[in-house]
Amino acid sequence: MTTPAGVDQAVILVGGQGTRMRPLTDTRPKPMLPLLDLPFVERQVDHLARAGVTTIVFSCGYRPREIEEYFGDGASRGLTMGYVVDPEPLGTAGAIANAASLLHEGDVFVLNGDILTDLDLAALVAHHRGLGAEATIALTPVDDPSAFGLVRTDADGRVTEFVEKPGADELIPGEPYRINAGTYVLSASARAAIPQGQQVSIERDTFPLLAARGGVGALASDCYWRDIGTPASYLDAHLDVLHGRVGFIASPGEAWISADADVSPDAVIGAGACVGPGATVAAGARIAAAIIGEGATVGEGATVEGAVIGRAVAVAPGATVRGLVVMGDGSSIGEGRTVDGPVSVDTGATVGDDDTR
Ligand code: GTP
Repeated sequence: MTTPAGVDQAVILVGGQGTRMRPLTDTRPKPMLPLLDLPFVERQVDHLARAGVTTIVFSCGYRPREIEEYFGDGASRGLTMGYVVDPEPLGTAGAIANAASLLHEGDVFVLNGDILTDLDLAALVAHHRGLGAEATIALTPVDDPSAFGLVRTDADGRVTEFVEKPGADELIPGEPYRINAGTYVLSASARAAIPQGQQVSIERDTFPLLAARGGVGALASDCYWRDIGTPASYLDAHLDVLHGRVGFIASPGEAWISADADVSPDAVIGAGACVGPGATVAAGARIAAAIIGEGATVGEGATVEGAVIGRAVAVAPGATVRGLVVMGDGSSIGEGRTVDGPVSVDTGATVGDDDTR
């Protein structure tokens, strides 16, 4: 089938535990955390659908039912959606192999389920086919590659080397620092190289194996890209959307208030505030650069700045939440209390009057 990007099927990897995003991921899988009004992964679905993808397989592991219940068979979106669940964590490549029964033989996009990007998928496919590659990796530039996998290529855009978490002595002066951006095109031969039913990492096992026989392409671009694997980057992704930095998501302005939120006209909603559906913000409350989750309440005169507040959280009147405070669903902060980040408040926990936090 001919589509704008030339590939009509995709696997989205959504099986990880999201440990860095705890406690927010205690109660739902990371890809279902909202980005303004929609689950994050729905942004990826939109991006794929716009590129002409019609079949999407979710490769699940942790809390799979929430994803399946939300998207169903995809018919309401004009898509075919399927689900596979790792019997045990299979790693990123093992999970792709496990999805084989829901895919046809042709090329497939693979997306890490925690990347927000407006990457040009058609350009990635064109590069893949131009090289005759077995697998092609999107690359994104970073200032400091030490926490990532550095990818080196030749002048044609073929991968020559992967350097996992490079030390200073492994970097070449003046070289561009480009890392794996978590978006791939795989041809049938790349998928065939993944052993079935085993724990296999595409980054550490499959790509180095294929690169050794010259089969891996890589395409760098300066498109918008963010890994939303941590609360800090999750908050930053919201600020990026408000600033209009994410090409395919229209900015709602310098702050966003759900149409279903109840915000007092005497509250101060500053730049970067995102107030979710069913949330209540009382008079005199101040919110800036913070996410207020669905059904949360921010009491009279309370301040929330720089924090990520989960669902049904209660910030009592006069309380102050400052810095990267991550509040799990159903947690609360007592009247007049101050909590300074970085700190997490567990799901359902209370920071009360006798708490010394
Ligand atoms: P952390 O626990 O915080 O590292 O997060 P994570 O579990 O999401 O892991 P990571 O960010 O490394 O994973 C990148 C993407 O691959 C995420 O979208 C994960 O959901 C997904 N993923 C990671 N491991 C597996 C796996 O074993 N099976 C499946 N199906 N998906 C996986």
